[in-house]
Amino acid sequence: MDRERQGAYLRAMGIVPWRPAMQPEPGAADVSVITEPVTGSEPESAGENMPERAASSVPVSGDAPDIGAMDWAGLQQLVSVCTRCALSEGRTQTVFGTGDRQARVMVVGEAPGAEEDRRGEPFVGRAGGLLDNMLLAMGQPRPKVFIANIVKCRPAGNRDPSDAEAAACASYLNRQIELVAPEVILAVGRVAARSLLARDEKLGALRGRLHEFSLPGSDAVVPVVVTYHPAYLLRSPDRKGLAWQDLKLVRAALGEAS
Ligand code: URA
Repeated sequence: MDRERQGAYLRAMGIVPWRPAMQPEPGAADVSVITEPVTGSEPESAGENMPERAASSVPVSGDAPDIGAMDWAGLQQLVSVCTRCALSEGRTQTVFGTGDRQARVMVVGEAPGAEEDRRGEPFVGRAGGLLDNMLLAMGQPRPKVFIANIVKCRPAGNRDPSDAEAAACASYLNRQIELVAPEVILAVGRVAARSLLARDEKLGALRGRLHEFSLPGSDAVVPVVVTYHPAYLLRSPDRKGLAWQDLKLVRAALGEAS
C-alpha cells in the first residue's frame, strides 16, 4: 500500500496524514494541519488531572540537551543515563525501544516489566509473545514495527507509572515518534492511551476508533488506535475479538484491506 492511497483513506476519515515537517509535499502549502477532528463526539477536555504531554514537567537545567534536535544515537545515550525521575534508581537498565526506525506502525506500551528490565528490550515475556502474534495477524511482524513504552524504566512491583513519571519521560517518546514518523501509532493498554492522548477514560471508551497524537511543537498529527494490553488479553481472552477489530483499524489506517 503506497502512501498516496493511505493518504486517501485517512482523508476520507477526516485526518490529514502525517508528513514530517522536513519533507513538504511538492507545491503543497501546509499539509500536516488537521482539518477536522475525527473524534468529534468526544469531549474536548482531557481528564482534569491529566498532565500536559507537551513537555516534561521536570525542571531541566539551563544547558539541558535539545532533545528535539537529537539523532537516534544521542537520544539513546541520553536515555541510558537518565535520572529525571525516581524510576532510574530501581532499574537494571533502560528499555529504549526496538524495531524498525522507519516503521509504518509504532507500538507504544506502558513500561518495562521485570524481564524487559533484565533484557533491555520491550515486550519479551508472555505478553510479548501475544503482542508478536497480534502484530503478525495485522500484517506487521515485530521487526517491521518500532516498539517503545511511555516510560523507559521499570516501575517497582510492576505498578503503573505515575503521571509525573510519564511526563518526565515524555520528551524521549515524543522524539522517538518524530524520528520514526509512523503512519499509525498503536497504543496498547490504558496507561499508554491515557498518556498519549491525555484522556482519562476507560480503555473500552477509547478503543474502536481513530484518535490523534499531536506532536508537541509541530503541527504534525499521527493517527492513534487504542487496544487492550496483551497482558490483559492473556487474562481476558474473550476480548481478543475486540482487539482484532482494533488491529483491523490499524490496517485500514495504513490503507490495507481488512
Ligand atoms: N508491558 C509493557 O507495556 N511494555 C513492556 O515493555 C512490557 C510489558
